[in-house]
Amino acid sequence: MIRFHGVRVLGATGLSVPCSIEVPTEGADLERDGTGMILSPGWIDLHAHLRDPGYPASETLASGTASAAAGGFTQVVAMANTNPVADQPARVSSLLERAASMPVRVSAVGALTAGLEGRVLTDARGLQRAGAIALSDDGRHAMDGPTLTRGLALAASAGLPVLVHGQKESHGKDASAEAAGVEEALAALQDVPQGRLHLQHLSTRRAVDLVRAAKAAGLPVTAEVTPHHLALTADDVAGGDANVSPPLRTADDRDALVEALIDGVIDVVATDHAPHAAAAKAAGANGYHGFETATGVIFSLRLPWAVLHRAVVARGREILRLPESDDWILIDPAEDWVVDPAGFQSRGRNSPFAGRRLRGRVTMTVCKGRIVHQRAVAVG
Ligand code: DOR
Repeated sequence: MIRFHGVRVLGATGLSVPCSIEVPTEGADLERDGTGMILSPGWIDLHAHLRDPGYPASETLASGTASAAAGGFTQVVAMANTNPVADQPARVSSLLERAASMPVRVSAVGALTAGLEGRVLTDARGLQRAGAIALSDDGRHAMDGPTLTRGLALAASAGLPVLVHGQKESHGKDASAEAAGVEEALAALQDVPQGRLHLQHLSTRRAVDLVRAAKAAGLPVTAEVTPHHLALTADDVAGGDANVSPPLRTADDRDALVEALIDGVIDVVATDHAPHAAAAKAAGANGYHGFETATGVIFSLRLPWAVLHRAVVARGREILRLPESDDWILIDPAEDWVVDPAGFQSRGRNSPFAGRRLRGRVTMTVCKGRIVHQRAVAVG
């Protein structure tokens, strides 16, 4: 057990007054001064690419979960676009078996279509029995509307939600590709009353408006946004690393995303942690490292504390029906630091925040009763 003194605790209604609180851990009892610090339940990342199996130069289960721990994520959801693709039950169970000994909790997503190619639906029930908690072709959106509708129905019959990437490949990468993907997914949900639909990484005002209208009409849809789409616009990376899917958009889109997160149209923040080896990135691979910069980036938005709790702690667990866990992170909200990807635990050093100053950083992560990350400064 660790007893933190003078710490403020993040909960559903916001931050507590400074208090003493015990966090269960193995081993000898410890006392820590938490003055000025925030103790939060471990954060959940509904959207991560751990690249395992298949891309060890970009990430492995070990490096990805170490990176998650450093970023304060005690539960991460691994997407299926590995090599081979997680489109068969044995591939999902093998990942979960290997993940069991990792420092943070890993949940697995199974592919919705074989090879993510958008044509042949996978064995939803078999994937669910193997331990998949959702189905998704994330990284791609090659399927047509009827296939998505049948996939949503099959997933629902196996008790699983479908996570939709929503950038229709047939439409390219601009804002209309997202509008088309989101419209198609919402239409599918209307046809499958028992379906559970979660829209990934919304990036445009148009998509936000579609989700707002669907929620107002009572459709059971949920949505996420990434830290980079909340904090950056296309202009912020001009001349730099612009490759990410969906792309960074306009200031108006970014403002709409922040508003929608605060008013609840967007349920959660998920990083879309997308590590790439330097060579892959130089060749144009899409995506950004997400785990280790998330706290500082999200804190820079100055969200109401109750919104933060919903967005990174509570709502993701509800959406994916994950069991409760007693994992905790200690955050120093005042730590000023400059992002240096060379210091990442992740093998993916591709960060649009490299060289930027952030405020707020995780100093300790406790997961499964063990201290799995600890920075020397500011502890004790
Ligand atoms: O930027 C992205 N990278 N977006 C995705 O949806 C996939 C991801 C990846 O796998 O690299």
